[in-house]
Amino acid sequence: MKISGIGSSLPKKVVTNEMLAEILDTSDEWITTRTGIKERRVLSTEYVLDLAVDAAKKALDDAGMDPKDLDFVICANVVNEYVTPALSCIVKEKIGAKCPCVDLNGACVGFIYACDIAEAYYKIGRVKNVLVVCAEAPAHMLGWHDRTCAVLFGAGSGAAVLTPGDNILATRLTSSDGWDRLYEMHNLQWCPYDLKGPTNLPLVMHGQDVFKFATSTCVNDLKVVLQDAKITADDINTYFIHQANLRIIKYIEQMLGQPTEKFPTNIERYGNTSSASLPILLDEVKKAGGLKEGDLLAFSAFGAGLVSGAMIMKW
Ligand code: COA
Repeated sequence: MKISGIGSSLPKKVVTNEMLAEILDTSDEWITTRTGIKERRVLSTEYVLDLAVDAAKKALDDAGMDPKDLDFVICANVVNEYVTPALSCIVKEKIGAKCPCVDLNGACVGFIYACDIAEAYYKIGRVKNVLVVCAEAPAHMLGWHDRTCAVLFGAGSGAAVLTPGDNILATRLTSSDGWDRLYEMHNLQWCPYDLKGPTNLPLVMHGQDVFKFATSTCVNDLKVVLQDAKITADDINTYFIHQANLRIIKYIEQMLGQPTEKFPTNIERYGNTSSASLPILLDEVKKAGGLKEGDLLAFSAFGAGLVSGAMIMKW
């Protein structure tokens, strides 16, 4: 397949490091030097669903596609306002599509998982046009009192319309042991109408273990997909790396021996938006005129599971 349209949507409310330092034992200096994050967006008047629908409509506009021509809607999401139905069912109805829809929880790798599933369905002749929507609000899962996680995440949504093409040159998905390095259990007291605040069960994260997993798997995944696509790291025009920690992105740059200019970031403005991270960044780079037809793009992400994925795509 190929990406024919892309869109993104972010909540209005900005929470800066300084604002967090007023309620937590942390500082702008600590957050900036350890993560690269300066501010993030959090839900206030919006719902995850609103971001998903907004990003989806923008991607459809960008592709010039009538929603009725969609054959499949896939939403990547970890948590939203509804336990059931799937977020994709609501998005499908609100945009006016008439096709099957499904959600997948691929954590921060959801975009690459969704593109790979779209591509697989396309290859067996089941679909032509697929809408992938990644919409996340990780702050729903954490407590604002928990400085180890509260500073890292933000909400956002990114969507892509995939249409027939042979632009996905290689994809790799992995899973490794270590699910208990990053998890959250259901809070059985959940009330879907009261999900705008944090739940009272903590997100459990062993940051250093996740950091080590991320750096090793991303470099390895990228090397494998480069080899599969029969190209080298130098051939890639732009690397889209999951925006979780600037130090992880810098490490990958160094290990691949590639210049910083090839690694756009928006982590400083949005923090870690989970699966939405890659399509939001792609949308921003495209809007800034940073993509030319024929460019070779590399994507790499990692997340809870522990899962990871990488993809090479011709723009
Ligand atoms: N503000 C100030 N201090 C903080 C803090 C915060 N927000 N969070 C943790 N600290 C403290 C710790 O308590 C620790 O204190 P101690 O030395 O007195 O015990 C110290 O800072 C160092 O903590 P450590 O965990 O070693 O920091 P780190 O350099 O590993 O950075 C992360 C922590 C979370 C930023 C980093 O490990 C990371 O980014 N890991 C990957 C996480 C990730 O990507 N998760 C999402 C996956 S999709």
